[in-house]
Amino acid sequence: MKRILTGITPSGYPHLGNYIGAIKPSLDLLDEKCESFLFIADLHAVIKVSDPSRLAELSNAIAIAWLASGLDPNKTSFYRQSDVPEITELAWLLSCITEKGLLNRAHAYKAAVDQNNESGKKEIDEGISLGLFSYPLLMASDILTPNATHVPVGKDQQQHLEITRDIAEKFNNKYGKFFNVPEAVIQNEKTVLGTDGRKMSKSYNNIIPLLSTEKELKKSVMKIVTNSQEPGEKKEWKNNTLFSIYSSFASDEKQEEMKNFFKDGIGWGDAKQKVFEELNLMLSPIREKFIEHSNNKKHIEEILKSGAEKVRAQTVPILKEVKKLVGINAL
Ligand code: ADP
Ligand code: TRP
Repeated sequence: MKRILTGITPSGYPHLGNYIGAIKPSLDLLDEKCESFLFIADLHAVIKVSDPSRLAELSNAIAIAWLASGLDPNKTSFYRQSDVPEITELAWLLSCITEKGLLNRAHAYKAAVDQNNESGKKEIDEGISLGLFSYPLLMASDILTPNATHVPVGKDQQQHLEITRDIAEKFNNKYGKFFNVPEAVIQNEKTVLGTDGRKMSKSYNNIIPLLSTEKELKKSVMKIVTNSQEPGEKKEWKNNTLFSIYSSFASDEKQEEMKNFFKDGIGWGDAKQKVFEELNLMLSPIREKFIEHSNNKKHIEEILKSGAEKVRAQTVPILKEVKKLVGINAL
């Protein structure tokens, strides 16, 4: 049976990239024949979010994003990473068989080292926490604790999945086949661009929010970078940020229509209005549920607690087995 698992880090407000890259494909994958594990990676967020009240607020926002996007807590295990202690316990056991060199090659760590080198720091690891360094290891543990088989993620997470596969294989070779070697499920090869033309990311301040009022949504669409071409001039859709963002959610038919508007010299303001209208159509039902959930923290807390109980019914026995394999037994 397929065991589908994915998480989102509450390190910022959820955005269109998270929805297109992770939330929607995960929910689309679920059917009666699979088991699913969807969670809020709050332990990962501690690496980036230093303000405790902000972390709590962002965890709540990610929970609402999942629920408003259609997650049915009765049909899936929906939980908070920190409510499942087996994850951190397994992370330690995995760290004992993982070579440091594997994590040296992880993108986020390499980027932090490059930044130190560029700014002429003497110590290449200056300011880099052990948490950031072992981020991929904790992620491997998220995936292996409930022994997942399929992990829907955006393309930027592919390397983390490769690291997870390596770690699972290493464990299986050493202690006997126990873990599934999980596959990444990447539905959209294209990364959703942000309003400034870079990857849409919570870290870049370039997001189109998933949960917002109509007015805020419009404001963020109007911020998308364009060039100085006037209305009436033919516009190129290739390598155009506005078109690229549109293509991440609009149907093929709508995209063809937009290509024609570009060819006919649509003004940027009008083009943005069309992008906004189409996006608003897609996000309106999510907004309605967002408002419903916004005033009901207690209910969300209950859902998460019962999700943790559900997943722990599986992770507690798995950890017991793993410990036995490793040689940590009752005397
Ligand atoms: P961020 O980069 O904003 O911090 P996360 O790293 O928390 O986002 O990503 C959560 C999920 O959303 C991951 O599966 C990731 O691949 C996906 N994702 C994030 N940004 C994008 C994007 N711009 N396009 C497509 N998928 C994305
Ligand atoms: N690292 C992922 C991200 O930032 C979030 C995440 C944490 C995750 N644990 C996971 C995704 C396990 C899939 C599976 O996007």
